[in-house]
Formats: sequence, structure tokens, C-alpha cells
Amino acid sequence: MHARACAPDNFYAQVKHTVAGTPVSPEQIAMIVQSVRSGLSLEAADRVLDLCCGNGALTTEFFAACGGGLGVDFCETLITVANRHFVRRPQEAFRLQDVVDYARNADDTAGFTKAVCHGGFQYLPPADAQELLELLRQRFVEVKRVFLGNLPDKRRIDAFFGDRDRVAGIENDSASPLGIWRTEDEIHSLSAKTGWTATILPMNARYYAAHYRYDVLLKRR
Ligand SMILES: C[S@@+](CC[C@H](N)C(=O)[O-])C[C@H]1O[C@@H](n2cnc3c(N)ncnc32)[C@H](O)[C@@H]1O
Repeated sequence: MHARACAPDNFYAQVKHTVAGTPVSPEQIAMIVQSVRSGLSLEAADRVLDLCCGNGALTTEFFAACGGGLGVDFCETLITVANRHFVRRPQEAFRLQDVVDYARNADDTAGFTKAVCHGGFQYLPPADAQELLELLRQRFVEVKRVFLGNLPDKRRIDAFFGDRDRVAGIENDSASPLGIWRTEDEIHSLSAKTGWTATILPMNARYYAAHYRYDVLLKRR
């Protein structure tokens, strides 16, 4: 719905990289790309699975730093944009599917070495979030690192809302505009339960959302 309301080439507005409705600057996007590339230590031999890839505008930057991969998203509008604008090589593809459904049923799991879910993990209902991490651990056996990006930090929720009214319980609602807010401790415990060790990654202080978000790197326990 949101993506369809945006101009067809307003790629970063389509996936909500905006402040007060205006798309963020190229420098801000470059910070995201750099954080994912370095968090995952992307190399030419890697194949990346981008879960909740949106329209592929970021995915193409991840693919460019490695041997390609697959982006999965359940929004038809966004996957249409991805397939139209961001497939650069035969070893790059985008797929329209729910990410948990994909992780449960995919038969191409062996080729992936790294995975990323940037700005999407918080929109999964809690049971789906847990199952996705379990499936990545069990079925994607070559995946050594998983980057969960742009997660809203429950401990710093006041830094985002300030004096503005907020709906009671919004921080635990995956269907709310920013999804589920988690503390670092909640991420550590979810990771441990699903077979991963989490490291909280510092964000660039100049990143526009650094005051209320954080990134996480998962490695196999
Ligand atoms: C804020 S956008 C982020 C897109 C992109 N990763 C980025 O950072 O630019 C969140 C994306 O998650 C996708 N998404 C949410 N839940 C999903 C699910 N269960 N399966 C597939 N995609 C999902 C939405 O369609 C949307 O494209």
C-alpha cells in the first residue's frame, strides 16, 4: 500500500528510508550499505540471502560486493520494482514470498553463505521471528553470519517519541509503523534460544536513526 503510493523511481521512499516524508540522503544510504557489507565481511565468494529485501535498492549494493544471491519479500509492488531495476547478473534474483514460508520450504538453501534482514525483522510476529532464526540455523547450513539491521531499541523508545502520544503497547506490535521494539537483552536471549550468538553493532553517529536504532550481527553458537 505504502510502496504503491510512491513514485515508481522513488526507491528509498518506497521502503520508508525517509525523515518527515523526505527520502534520506545518498550519504545516509551509503552508511547502511557500508554497515551491512562490513558486518557480513562480504567477499567475492559469498552468496547473500536478503530477507525482507523490499525493492532491491539496497540488495543490489550487497550483491555488488559478492557473488550475488537472492532477495525475498512478500510485497508484489516492491518485488516488481526489484526485478525491473536491480537484477544485474544471472546470479542475482528476487522472489515474491513470505520470508518464513521461503525459509521453511526453500530447496536452494545450500548456496548461501551470509544473510541479511535490514529493516524487516521487527515486522515479523514474534513466533515468526523466532522460527525464521531457527530455520536459518538449521536449514541454511553454510550461512555463517546474519545481519539484522535497523532494529528499534526499546530502551531508547522515548528518544524517538519524545512528548508525542503513543498507543499503549505499540512497542510489542509487529503491525505498528515501526514494528516491534526490542532491548539488546531481548535480542541476546532470542538469539541464544535459536542457536546464534548476537553482537550489537555500533551505528555511525551521523546515521539519522542512530539515536533509537541498532544493528545486530549473529554468528553460529
Ligand atoms: C522497511 S522495508 C525494508 C526493505 C529493505 N530491506 C530496506 O532496508 O530498504 C520492510 C520490508 O519488509 C517486508 N516484509 C515484512 N514482513 C515480511 C514477511 N513476512 N515476508 C516477506 N517480506 C516481509 C515488507 O514488504 C517491506 O518490503
